Amino acid sequence: MVTTPIDSTRAAGIACESDTIATVPLADERSFAYWQQDIPAAYWQLSADELTARIGAARRTLGTRAIVLGHHYQREDVIAFADERGDSFKLARWAADHPQSEYIVFCGVHFMAEAADILSAPKQKVILPNMAAGCSMSDMADPDDVYNAWTELDELGLADDIVPITYINSAAALKAFVGAHGGAVCTSSNARSVLAWAFTRKKRVFFFPDQHLGRNTGAALGVPLDEMVLWGWARPYGSMGGQTLEALARSRILLWAGHCSVHQRFTPGQVADARRRYPDAIVVVHPECRLETVQAADLSGSTEFIARTVAEAPAGATIAVGTEINLVSRLAKEHPDKRVFCLDPVVCPCSTMYRVHPAYLAWTLESLVEGRVVNRISVPEDVARDARLALDRMLAIP
Ligand code: 13P
Ligand code: SF4
Repeated sequence: MVTTPIDSTRAAGIACESDTIATVPLADERSFAYWQQDIPAAYWQLSADELTARIGAARRTLGTRAIVLGHHYQREDVIAFADERGDSFKLARWAADHPQSEYIVFCGVHFMAEAADILSAPKQKVILPNMAAGCSMSDMADPDDVYNAWTELDELGLADDIVPITYINSAAALKAFVGAHGGAVCTSSNARSVLAWAFTRKKRVFFFPDQHLGRNTGAALGVPLDEMVLWGWARPYGSMGGQTLEALARSRILLWAGHCSVHQRFTPGQVADARRRYPDAIVVVHPECRLETVQAADLSGSTEFIARTVAEAPAGATIAVGTEINLVSRLAKEHPDKRVFCLDPVVCPCSTMYRVHPAYLAWTLESLVEGRVVNRISVPEDVARDARLALDRMLAIP
C-alpha cells in the first residue's frame, strides 16, 4: 500500500478507521497523523463530465443512506454535489440535528468532519474525501503546546481565573481539553456570545488558536487592546509566552498566536482601494482578518453571514468581500445583478480546502456503494466525550 504523510494537517486525538488508511501514533498516545493513500489511478483519467456522472450515479444508488455536506469554500465542482452548504456552525448543527443518514460525507476539512463525528449519532459514519484536507490554523495549536501553556499559567497562579475557549478550527483533543476545563467551542458566527458567556464565569479567557478572531471579538465586547495579550506558543517552556507577569495578570484575553494565512492577506489598504474605486461599496470581511481590516470594513461575519449579506443587498449594489476566493467567485456568479469582488486582487484560495477534488469524492462514494468505508473520521470516545461537552456548551448558548 502506498501512503502519503500529511504533516501539515496533523490533528491529535483522532483515529482514522478505514481499511485503506494508515495511521501513525505520535508522542501523545492518543494522537494520530492522517494519511491519504493514493486512490486508484483510473480516477485521475476521468474527464470532468465522467466524474460528474459517476458521482451522480453513486449518490443515486446510496440514496438517503448518504448525505453530502459542503463548506462554502469548497470548489465549484465539489459544492455542486452538496445536499447542505454552510459555515462551520451551520454544518455542525446540521450533523447534531440529523441522526438519520448512515454516512455523512463531509466536503470540508478535518476539524469540520471531526466536529460532525462528535455531534452525530453513534451509528453514523463521517467521511472526509481527502485526508490531506486540513487547516493550517488549526495545526498551529498543537494540544501538547496548549497543555504546557496551561501548566505554566497554573504555576503562575493564573489558571483558576481562566475559561479556555477554542475556535472550532482546532483539533478534537484541544476541544476535549477545553471541555474538561469548563470552557466551550465557538465559531465565527457566535464568538461574541461565547466570549460574553465566558466572562460571566471568570475574569479571563484563553482563546485558541486564531488571535485575530479572538482580538476582533474582544474589541467588539469593549476589551481594551492592552488587556488582550499574545501568547507566543513557539517560545520555550517557562518564558510565559513572551509576556511579563504584570501583563498576564492585567489581561482579560490571552490570545494564542495562531492565524489564517488566507485571511491575514486582507489589509486596510485594500479596503481603502475598494472604496476609492466604488465609493458606495459595502465592504464585508471574515473575522479571521486582522483587527485593522475588520475595523476598516462595514461588516464582518462568518461565511454564511457573508453569503447572506450579498444575497440581501439590493440589485445594483457593489460588495467587496474579504474571504476565500471560491466563495467570492460563487457569490459573484450567483448574483449577476450585483458587483461582487474579492478585496485582494491576487486570488486567495484555501489550498487545503481545495484538496477535496471530485476524484476523491467519486472514490469515497463508489467505495461506499461497494460496501467499503474509506476515509472515516472517528474520534476516540475518551476524546469525544470531553470535546462534546465543549461543543454542547456552545450549542446551548443563545
Ligand atoms: P466559517 O465558520 O465562517 O465558515 O469559517 C470557517 C473557516 O475556516 C474560515 O476560514
Ligand atoms: Fe483554515 Fe484558513 Fe483554510 Fe479556514 S481558510 S480552513 S482557517 S486555512
